[in-house]
Amino acid sequence: MTNPVQQAIENRISAHRYVDGPLLDDARILALVEQATRAPSAYNMQNWRFIAVRSQDAKARLQAVAYGQQKVLDAAVAFIVCGTLAAHRQLATALQPSVEAGTLSQRTADAWVAQAIQAHEGDVQLQRDEALRSASLAAMTLMLAAQGEQLGSCAMVGFDALALHQAFGLAPHEVPVLLVTVGYPTADQLPQKPRKPVHEVLEIL
Ligand SMILES: Cc1cc2nc3c(=O)[nH]c(=O)nc-3n(C[C@H](O)[C@H](O)[C@H](O)COP(=O)(O)O)c2cc1C
Repeated sequence: MTNPVQQAIENRISAHRYVDGPLLDDARILALVEQATRAPSAYNMQNWRFIAVRSQDAKARLQAVAYGQQKVLDAAVAFIVCGTLAAHRQLATALQPSVEAGTLSQRTADAWVAQAIQAHEGDVQLQRDEALRSASLAAMTLMLAAQGEQLGSCAMVGFDALALHQAFGLAPHEVPVLLVTVGYPTADQLPQKPRKPVHEVLEIL
């Protein structure tokens, strides 16, 4: 007996082709991204932003900077998952709801902010690492959310980051980390690809 989380993990595949299906309306897109934002991030920075590319025009613009990958056009929606740099500067704002909800004391929030500023200010590499970590976790959560909705998905790094940055007017502090296409997979999908044996990649101490 597998539990629902196992099922989602084991049944997810990288969809290689999509067919047309019902429009994913704003409410469904919002629900998917709401799930994605439940991903963890350092200090709960939530240093991410999502662009849901759904219109034909915007998809064509995205396809042009994604090496012509057909999936971008055929998916119901293609998400540009961005990580944000210098997230420590907006950490106090990001933590405010936790303070208001009583799940984080003001004192702890202030300490986290001070710690994050000390570690991140001036360390461009760390800011970028953090942006990549957060956006990647959010992208994976987004794919599992799609799986839960019986939708297919595919993470894609096949895009020209600079061209995408310009084509979609990203802010200087935004890094396009991944595209996640979501849609209705064709019936001829391959099963999830085999993985290396766990013993090759696991060390238990
Ligand atoms: C970071 C990353 C980048 C990827 N880029 C692409 C891509 O540009 N185009 C594509 O078709 N698949 C892409 N994939 C999908 C991988 O090829 C796929 O996850 C891998 O082969 C395992 O397949 P499975 O998820 O179906 O088991 C990417 C996956 C990841 C995690």
